[in-house]
Order: sequence, then structure tokens, then C-alpha cells
Amino acid sequence: MLEFKQNIRGNVALGVNPLGCRQEVLNEIDYVKNKGTFAGPKKVLIIGASSSYGLATRISLAFGAGADTIGVSFEKGPKNERNLGTAGWYNNIAFREAAEKEGLIAKNFVQDAFSHESKQEVIAYIKNEFGGKVDLVVYSLASGRRTDPDTGETYTSAIKSLGEPVVGPNINMQNHAFYTETLEPATAEEIAGTVKVMGGEDWQLWMEALKEADVLADGVLTTNYSYLGTELNRPYYGGGTLGLAKADCDEKAKTINGLLADINGKAHIVVATAVTTKASSVIPFFPVYCIGLYKVMTEKGTHETPIMHIDRIYRDMVYGENAEYDEAGRLRPDSWELDSDTQAKTKALIQQLNKENFNTDMAAYDLLYKEFSILSGFMVDNYVEQDVTIEELKALEY
Ligand code: NAI
Repeated sequence: MLEFKQNIRGNVALGVNPLGCRQEVLNEIDYVKNKGTFAGPKKVLIIGASSSYGLATRISLAFGAGADTIGVSFEKGPKNERNLGTAGWYNNIAFREAAEKEGLIAKNFVQDAFSHESKQEVIAYIKNEFGGKVDLVVYSLASGRRTDPDTGETYTSAIKSLGEPVVGPNINMQNHAFYTETLEPATAEEIAGTVKVMGGEDWQLWMEALKEADVLADGVLTTNYSYLGTELNRPYYGGGTLGLAKADCDEKAKTINGLLADINGKAHIVVATAVTTKASSVIPFFPVYCIGLYKVMTEKGTHETPIMHIDRIYRDMVYGENAEYDEAGRLRPDSWELDSDTQAKTKALIQQLNKENFNTDMAAYDLLYKEFSILSGFMVDNYVEQDVTIEELKALEY
């Protein structure tokens, strides 16, 4: 019998419980089903579909709106008893099995979304086996590296401040430690690399390739998840390298809107709320902001996990009547996080946190840790331990 161990290095999860991942996918499907159905897209391509926001999007649209989906992600399967692969690998499989049971198409591409080849393979599949067109393209990719498909050069992103160093508290979930971190400002190369990896260039390349191949339906929408945050995280997020990458996405949205005009398409930047994900757990200082914010939002009844937030975005906003846009035309479901009372209370709370009290009822460290664990299939609600062998895991096909 395989033993699943939660192995954390810094704020990176190395261990995985494949059966816990499956249960979490089922929990998220139940969440959506309990909300009932809504009129939404029918043919959806999700780039970055295997975890957190991308996976939640896929679940909401498949089980809420009855959409057939194509998911592109970069994940690893099991090799041996010590290397079971990544959580997203098992999420893809659990999603596909559940969707197929309902008669939905759920095709997984597990490969580098940044390459031209991946785009062409997805396009060929849309043409030959997916009915020829998609009506929604969701870009939910988060990566530390990107190889430019034209030059072959590999760029690395760096989550850093601009100009000045930032000193502040951070949390290490491996040993439950609260400590002071100094973040040095980014070099010019790190700035350029972060924009190249996390900016909108690849989103635009996808939309150009899809348009060129004539696989976008009339009225097609495309969404890209952004984060703006507040003064509490501006020094290392909005005002840092990631902020520049997100601003680049805003620019690319304008270009994509021009590209889609003749087919009545639209690009939406969706400014999403702060949630616990693989990508956000490694943002310096962010865990401290999250445990303050989550505490306040839980008390107000506004705290959301990715599935809650994403389902609200599509059900109530993109395909519903309650969309809130800002002056730049971005969709703003993050208004609950940005609520002035929420921010004032979060600020007051995180100013009081220290290594003695961060892990008490004062803040929401327990919740952050639970949400982080769930991403790898641990601490999952309704999970029942079962026997599984490495051979059985290896036999699972995505
Ligand atoms: P995540 O790390 O949970 O998911 C990233 C996805 O990208 C995974 O499916 C992964 O397999 C895929 N991926 C990475 N490299 C790939 C590659 N080369 N080829 C194909 N797939 C690849 O990330 P998360 O947090 O869900 O982020 C998604 C988007 O949401 C990002 O743009 C992020 O900035 C944005 N966002 C996140 C917030 C947060 O608090 N986590 C808040 C607001 C926006």
C-alpha cells in the first residue's frame, strides 16, 4: 500500500495524495452542482487548466454550464513510489473521468503551452474532434519560466520589488515559522524576464494562432486572470515585477480586442481575488497578507476559495447580470477583497502579527495551511483513505 506524505520545502509542496486530489475535484464539482446550472459557453479552451483558478474555471463551466472543455497544462505523472508526480496530473484525470460520466468532452493536453507546436496541436483537435470552434478561451497560466518559441531563449520570472528593497514578515509553511524577509529590488533583466513569462505575450500568440486558424466562434470571449491588490501588498506585487507583467496583459487585451473585433469577440481582464495557490504561496510576504485578509473576510462571510470565486465570476458576472467593471474596462470580482472596511481591518490585524501569535485564532494561518494542503490532496474534506498501488496510479491515463 502506498503511503502519501505531505512533503513541503519552503512554501512548495513536493508530496501528493492522488486520491485526495480526486476527492477535492469531486468536492468542487459538488459545490458547482449545488448552485444549479447557468447559461454559459459550450466549447471552452482553458490554458493552465490543472489547478486552482484554471481548474475551478473548468469545473464551473463544465458542471454549471454543460461545457465541453480542452485543458492545457504542464504536469508530471508518477514514476515510482517515491516520485508520484504532481497534483495537477491527478486533477486532470479526476476531472476528465467525472466530466465524461456526464457525457461531456474533456480533453487534456499535457505539454508546454508556450510552444507553437502545442498551439497547433490544440487547433487541429478543435478542428477535427471538437466541433471546429471554441466560444471561450481562458488564459490561467502561472509559470516561473518560459521559452520563447521563436528564439528558443528561456526567460525566468522573479517576484521582486522595483527600485527599493522591501523588508517585512513572511511565513514558512514547512516549519510553521514567521520571519523577517528582505526582498532585493529586481535587476533590469529580472524585470524583462518576468514580463516575458507572466505578461500577455503568450496569451496574444494563442489568440492570433486561434484566429488565424478560424477556430474562434463569432462573439468569442477570452479571459485572463489578473491581480491588482492594495497598498498592503503594492511594494512587492502591484508596484513590483508582477505588477508590470499584469500591466502588460492589460495592453495585450487591447491588441486582442482589435484582433477579435471583426468576429465580435472580446478580451476580458478579470481582476481576481487573493487565493491560496501553488503560484501565490511563493510570493514573498503574501502569506502574511492572506492570513490577515482571510481572517477578516471569514468573519464577514466574504472569504472565497478558487471554486467559489470563479463560479461567481462566470455565473454572476461574465454570463450573468452582475458584472462590475472598472474605468479601464476590467472585470472586478475582487471588490470584496478591496472593500475599505476589509482592508482597514486587515491592515490593523497584520500590523499586530508576530511569531508568537500568527498561528493563533487572531489570524487565519490554519485556514491558509489547510487550503495549501488541499492543493496537494491533503486535509481534503470527505476524504476516505483507500489502498492504491503504484501500478494502478501509473495505469491512469490523462
Ligand atoms: P497555479 O500555479 O495554480 O496554476 C497554473 C497553471 O498553469 C497550472 O495548470 C499549470 O500546469 C499551468 N502551467 C504552468 N506552466 C505551463 C506551461 N509551460 N504549459 C502549460 N501549462 C502550464 O496558478 P494560479 O494561482 O491559479 O494562477 C493562474 C492565474 O491567476 C495567474 O495569471 C495568476 O497571476 C492569476 N491570479 C492568481 C491569484 C492568486 O491569488 N493565486 C489572484 C489573482 C490572479
